[in-house]
Amino acid sequence: MSRSDMARLDVIEMFHGISFPGHLHTQDSLQLALKFPFKDTDILIVSYPKSGTTWMQEIVTLTSSRGDPHLSQTVPNWARAPWLEQYYSAAVLEASSTTPRVITTHLPHHLLGPTLRGSKAKVIYVSRNPKDVLVSFYHFHKIANFFPEAGSFPEFLNRFLEGTLPFGSWFDHVKGWTSQTATMNNLLHITYEEMSLDLHGAIKRVSSFLQCPLVEDEVNNCVKHCSFSSMKDNKMINYTLVPEEIMDHSKGSFMRTGKIGDWKNMFTEEQNQYFKSVFKSKMQGCTLEFVWEQEKEEPHANEQISRKNTEL
Ligand code: A3P
Repeated sequence: MSRSDMARLDVIEMFHGISFPGHLHTQDSLQLALKFPFKDTDILIVSYPKSGTTWMQEIVTLTSSRGDPHLSQTVPNWARAPWLEQYYSAAVLEASSTTPRVITTHLPHHLLGPTLRGSKAKVIYVSRNPKDVLVSFYHFHKIANFFPEAGSFPEFLNRFLEGTLPFGSWFDHVKGWTSQTATMNNLLHITYEEMSLDLHGAIKRVSSFLQCPLVEDEVNNCVKHCSFSSMKDNKMINYTLVPEEIMDHSKGSFMRTGKIGDWKNMFTEEQNQYFKSVFKSKMQGCTLEFVWEQEKEEPHANEQISRKNTEL
């Protein structure tokens, strides 16, 4: 069965209080994900939607291929790094003989953490400024017909803050996974902003975490093939292979702007203040500090990403 055979565009699967699009998820596939026998050699990419998941799939594919774009230009991302909880992944993973297996998931830590316990699988957690996530998700709702109506932007913003959008609460997701960084030494937390400000450095960080050190030329090839412009034109990644009735490409592109700070084009000052106050209260007790608004000119910006706090 191909990814586009199962329509169920209007179906929502509620699972542990979180809604998942029935187009790609079933109760069985969600249950199976929680029983998945991880291998120690597995690489697991984890993110809340619109945080740079596809970008990281590309970075991992290219790093593992030492910068050779053949795999990333011939195999769709969902076939080489399937989403664990989606209905087709069991078949894809069974048929796969590659080591390491690259697997993707949007599941929160409180659901998948117990499944991973004791495993040495390498976990890469990707996060992004929630305001950019929200704006990207809003636009994605307009093109992806497997989501409920996006509604107006203020309504969508409220649903994001309440945690009632598909895939649940951004706050629970980020807090759940990043709280593991102190204890899980097989977990790498990397931000979209870090990838954006210093892609070269981010690729080196990922390759060293995966114990796949690359020579300079190989890193440069990875950078070239996972730049926004290369990925935008790669149909194995840009979702143009997905039929029009599932993703309406006339309403926008999956590879949309690829920018930091696009939220400023959507948020009013009032919405920004409201978002910040909810963020502050929901992130209370979170020991990790996030940096989202670094400027490119700042020296060593990438080094500060996960260590220093600035304005949200
Ligand atoms: P925008 O909608 O803000 O443009 P995900 O893969 O988690 O669904 O995230 C999609 C977001 O990542 C989109 O954001 C997309 O443009 C952005 N993205 C994907 N590849 C990128 C790249 N190479 N450079 C910058 N942004 C990228």
